[in-house]
Amino acid sequence: MQLSLSLLVGAAALVAPVFAQTWTTCNPMNETCPNDPALGISHNFVFNTSETVTNSFNITAGSLVYGTNGTEFTINKKGDSPTIQSQFYIFWGSVSVVMKAASGQGIISSIVLESDDLDEVDWEFLGGNGTHAETNYFGKGNTTSYDRAIYYPSGSDNRENFHNYTVHWTSDQLQWYIDSNLVRTLPYAAAYNGYNYPQTPMTVRLGIWAGGDSENSNGTIEWAGGLTDYSKGPYTMVVQSAQINDFSTGSAYQWTDKTGSFSSIKAIAGNSTAAETIVKAETPTLSLAQKWSNLPSTTKIAVYAGSGGAAAILLAALTFVCIRQRRAGRKEREDYNAKVEKEREEAFRDQMELREKGLGGWDKGAFEKQGEDALGGWGDPRRSHVPQGYVTDEPTLPKLPSNVMVKEVPSRVNSPAITRSVSPISRHQTPFIVNPVPQSPRGWNGGNQGGMIQDAGNAYSGGYGGNTNFSNNFSRSPSFPLGGSVSPQRGPSNSGYQRF
Ligand SMILES: *[C@@H]1O[C@H](CO)[C@@H](O)[C@H](O)[C@H]1NC(C)=O
Ligand SMILES: *[C@@H]1O[C@H](CO)[C@@H](O)[C@H](O)[C@H]1NC(C)=O
Ligand SMILES: *[C@@H]1O[C@H](CO)[C@@H](O)[C@H](O)[C@H]1NC(C)=O
Ligand SMILES: *[C@@H]1O[C@H](CO)[C@@H](O)[C@H](O)[C@H]1NC(C)=O
Ligand SMILES: *[C@@H]1O[C@H](CO)[C@@H](O)[C@H](O)[C@H]1NC(C)=O
Ligand SMILES: *[C@@H]1O[C@H](CO)[C@@H](O)[C@H](O)[C@H]1NC(C)=O
Ligand SMILES: *[C@@H]1O[C@H](CO)[C@@H](O)[C@H](O)[C@H]1NC(C)=O
Ligand SMILES: *[C@@H]1O[C@H](CO)[C@@H](O)[C@H](O)[C@H]1NC(C)=O
Ligand SMILES: *[C@@H]1O[C@H](CO)[C@@H](O)[C@H](O)[C@H]1NC(C)=O
Repeated sequence: MQLSLSLLVGAAALVAPVFAQTWTTCNPMNETCPNDPALGISHNFVFNTSETVTNSFNITAGSLVYGTNGTEFTINKKGDSPTIQSQFYIFWGSVSVVMKAASGQGIISSIVLESDDLDEVDWEFLGGNGTHAETNYFGKGNTTSYDRAIYYPSGSDNRENFHNYTVHWTSDQLQWYIDSNLVRTLPYAAAYNGYNYPQTPMTVRLGIWAGGDSENSNGTIEWAGGLTDYSKGPYTMVVQSAQINDFSTGSAYQWTDKTGSFSSIKAIAGNSTAAETIVKAETPTLSLAQKWSNLPSTTKIAVYAGSGGAAAILLAALTFVCIRQRRAGRKEREDYNAKVEKEREEAFRDQMELREKGLGGWDKGAFEKQGEDALGGWGDPRRSHVPQGYVTDEPTLPKLPSNVMVKEVPSRVNSPAITRSVSPISRHQTPFIVNPVPQSPRGWNGGNQGGMIQDAGNAYSGGYGGNTNFSNNFSRSPSFPLGGSVSPQRGPSNSGYQRF
């Protein structure tokens, strides 16, 4: 059953507060669901404009305030619970959110990874407790036990200071980091022999809600740290950025059966709509004149001279981008293939325009002799179009955004042309192995490996864990307020939120 967002928001305002814990619109373990749109790249979402949110996330409840220092999620009154959900999914990946939790007794700020069959990975922050952050997970919506929440010290007060909360998620293990400190590691087998290990494509959800609302169950209120006093608000969580890295690639993730097992998930090859949207939003639309003035003067001379044609020069300039990226380090060798591809296309258009203006153009002879090399591939250096001396230049065209981050795996498996255009590096290194399906990139160097603490280790596992006094009517920490739909619900039905 799906209700319209406006109806839900309206209902929430009237009947408030309405909290589903976490929800899915279609559970693939029970029915045939649409494929999950893939992110397929790594991207740093800087939450300093509304576009960052509206281009890539759905606002599933409430409204946000956008500032240059971050996006604010505020509870002004009973029933408020602004929440967003990514329009895309990641299938293994890492998520680093730089945020400041809200203060306020009973107020819960949260970062959640949630899949269609209710696999879940959580960060939760109790507004009454600025010293600790809660980590948690669920598999296949299994809420039969509440012993998985573990609290870790967050360093300085997490309501006063921005911290970087990272989840690093592979088929081998789940890791939670606070800033660069690894605090928790959950090996696959530790989650009910892997069966309840989060392992299916995830959306990223950010939001705030009042666990301490008087209409919630006692267990929820107790877990949240007590009743919320709305008169002491507003209570605001601020998100500065979210670096989201999808370790798989493709256009979508398909559930091929109802097991909920990662091995049943198939990555469909193709272009990621989410990635294209991001690239498009971040690509400045330069006029032809600007592009022309951005060209290195030597290039202009070459174009004026008509040698080699504008296509070769412009595309060579694109190739330099790759070289420059390589200098910046191996990490960047896979730099944003989608963007390069788009710019490659633009370069074609530009050279056609330039030709019309008599500034150079298509070198048909070169194309016939050299095939694709004439179209901007790296080609064989002995036959390269790159004039001598260019390699040391720092061309100013085109600039990639500095917040574009780079994947560890090739992101365009289906496009030989792309592999080609970034191949200057791969020529000298191991060839790409193209395998878009489940992988666990072990190469990720996230931080303090030495400080590893195994799951259920030294930290607090209190909260609602072992307390049998209230575990019966206790709703597991309900991560999210009601968004687009409430089926199926989790946890006991008497736990204080309403069912539509
Ligand atoms: C699956 O569908 C059946 C029949 O509609 C329903 O009874 C059951 O509760 C559903 N299970 C889940 C996990 O959604
Ligand atoms: C948002 O952040 C990006 C990346 O840091 C920056 O380039 C851009 O100028 C910022 N925009 C605003 C409106 O602050
Ligand atoms: C952004 O943060 C800086 C440093 O904390 C502060 O000085 C500035 O006033 C903030 N700007 C806004 C619009 O809140
Ligand atoms: C985001 O909203 C659109 C429009 O309502 C919907 O089609 C899409 O399924 C939503 N995405 C997610 C991941 O919920
Ligand atoms: C914050 O939470 C931790 C872990 O549950 C707990 O040890 C600590 O006493 C709490 N602090 C306050 C002020 O409640
Ligand atoms: C849920 O997990 C518990 C272990 O935490 C396990 O005993 C139980 O069988 C699981 N339930 C389902 C439906 O998988
Ligand atoms: C956040 O932490 C992760 C893991 O330590 C790190 O890779 C990432 O660069 C950090 N992000 C920021 C903005 O500091
Ligand atoms: C919740 O706690 C209050 C006060 O302690 C008590 O009066 C009420 O009966 C409790 N409700 C439930 C459902 O346990
Ligand atoms: C991916 O995008 C490129 C260029 O935008 C296009 O040529 C190609 O056909 C697309 N591939 C698919 C599978 O849609």
